[in-house]
Amino acid sequence: MSFDTIIRNGTIVTASDTFRCDVGIRNGRIIAMAENLDDADEIIDASGLYVMPGGIDSHVHLAQPSGDGIVMADDFASGTLSAAFGGNTTVMPFCLQEKGSTLREALKAYHAKAEGECYIDVSFHIIVTDPTSHVLGQELPALVADGYTSIKVFMTYENLRLRDDEILATLDSARTSGALVMVHCENEDAIRFLIGRHEANGEFAAKYHATSRPVAAEREATHRALSLAEIVDTPIVIVHVSNRQAMEEIQRARARGSKVAGETCPQYLMLTADDLNATELEGAKFVCSPPPRDAESQIACWEGLQNGTFDLFSSDHCPFRYDDDAGKLNEKGKRNFRWIPNGIPGVETRLPILFSEGVSKGRIDLNRFVALSSTNHAKLYGLYPRKGTIAIGSDADIALWDPKKSVVITNDILHHGADYTPYEGLAITGWPVRVMVRGKTVINGEALVAEKGLGNYLARARSPLV
Ligand code: URP
Ligand code: ZN
Ligand code: ZN
Repeated sequence: MSFDTIIRNGTIVTASDTFRCDVGIRNGRIIAMAENLDDADEIIDASGLYVMPGGIDSHVHLAQPSGDGIVMADDFASGTLSAAFGGNTTVMPFCLQEKGSTLREALKAYHAKAEGECYIDVSFHIIVTDPTSHVLGQELPALVADGYTSIKVFMTYENLRLRDDEILATLDSARTSGALVMVHCENEDAIRFLIGRHEANGEFAAKYHATSRPVAAEREATHRALSLAEIVDTPIVIVHVSNRQAMEEIQRARARGSKVAGETCPQYLMLTADDLNATELEGAKFVCSPPPRDAESQIACWEGLQNGTFDLFSSDHCPFRYDDDAGKLNEKGKRNFRWIPNGIPGVETRLPILFSEGVSKGRIDLNRFVALSSTNHAKLYGLYPRKGTIAIGSDADIALWDPKKSVVITNDILHHGADYTPYEGLAITGWPVRVMVRGKTVINGEALVAEKGLGNYLARARSPLV
C-alpha cells in the first residue's frame, strides 16, 4: 500500500482511546492505522506529539452584519486562518436571515462571502429571525434535505429575538423537518428594563453590561426554552451557558427525559464581570452575552465540562476591533454600554486554553479534550465519522499537538482581525504545531503553507439528537 503522507511515531488521541500507531493518508482520507507503515511521498515525524482530530468549532460568527456602522473584525479568510492557527480544521459560522428575507436568500449571500476564501472547512447554521409560514413550512424542510440541518434562535437582542409563540412554531417545524435548534437564552424584556434603569441612573460604563444581563435573566430564559421545547417534544442545544443556575436547568430537563445538549465557552472559564470593570473604556473588550460572571461560575463551568452537563466547548468567536469607530469604541459605544457590540474574539485561543487549563492542569483528560473540542461537535451536528475522529475512512483532518510547548498569548501572535485578545498575557502549556485539512498541511509551526480556497463547504446529515 502506498500513501501520500504517513504520520509516524505519534500518540493518537481520540474521544475514547490513546494509543501509538502510524497514520496513512491517501486522497485526503485516513486509509491505514498500523505499526511501521511505509511508502509515502511525505513522512511526518510526530515524535513527542499528540495526533488528534482537528478542532471543530461549532459556534463562530464571521462577516455577520452587526448594526449600523459596526463591522465584524473577521471575514471568512481571516476567521478561518485564525481558526487554523488555533488547531481547528472545521468551523461552523452562522448565516443570518435578515427580517423580510428568505433563508435561501441569506444562504446565497453567505455562500458568496465564503466562496474561495476559506482555509479550513465550513458549514453554516441558519439564524432564524423571521419565522414566517413560508420559512417554517416550505423552506426549512427543503433546507434540511439539502444538508442545512441546524438553526439558531435568539430570546434576546431587540432585532433578533423571537417571541414565545414564534419559538414554539419554529421548534415545531424543526421537529418535523429534522433540524436541530440552538437557543440563545436571555430574557430580553428583563434586560431592556435593567438597561433603562441604568440609563435613568446615569450609569453608562461597560460594567453595566454585566449587571443589565444578570444570571436570573439567563436562568429564566433557559428554563423557558427547555419548557417550550418539552411542550413540542423537540431537542435543543443551550448555547454559551455561563453559570451554575442555567446548568441546573439543563440537568433538570434531562432528568425529565428531554433531549438537550449544552455548550460553554472559554470566556466563562477565564473571565469574570470584574474584567468589564477594568477601566471605563477597556471593559468594552469583554462585552459579550451572556456576560462573564464570577469565580464560582467558572468553577461550575469546569464541573459541567467534567461531568457531561456540557457536550460542547465552543468559542462563540464574535470579533470586533476595540479601538475603532466600527467596533467596540464606536461613538455611541464610548458613551453608553448598550451600543458596545456584543462579542469577543476567541477562535484561535479556544483549544490552547482548554488544553492548558484543562489537560495540562489536570482538570480533564486528553480524551475528554478531544470529545469537547471536536468529536462531540461532529456527532451533534451530523458530520461524524467523516469529521471529528482519527479512524480509517475519516477525512485526514488532523492537529499535531506539542503538550510541552509554552506560549504566552499576546495579540501580536494571533491571526484574527481584532486588535486585541481578551486573554492578553495568559501563559499556555500545549500548542498545536501542525494542522492538516483533508491531508493537506495548512499550518506548519508558525508558517501558513496553504492557499486560501482549500476549505470546502460541508453539507451535513441530521443530528442524531433529532
Ligand atoms: O456576545 C455574543 N455572544 N455575541 C455573539 C452573538 C451570540 O449571541 O452568540
Ligand atoms: Zn448567542
Ligand atoms: Zn454566538
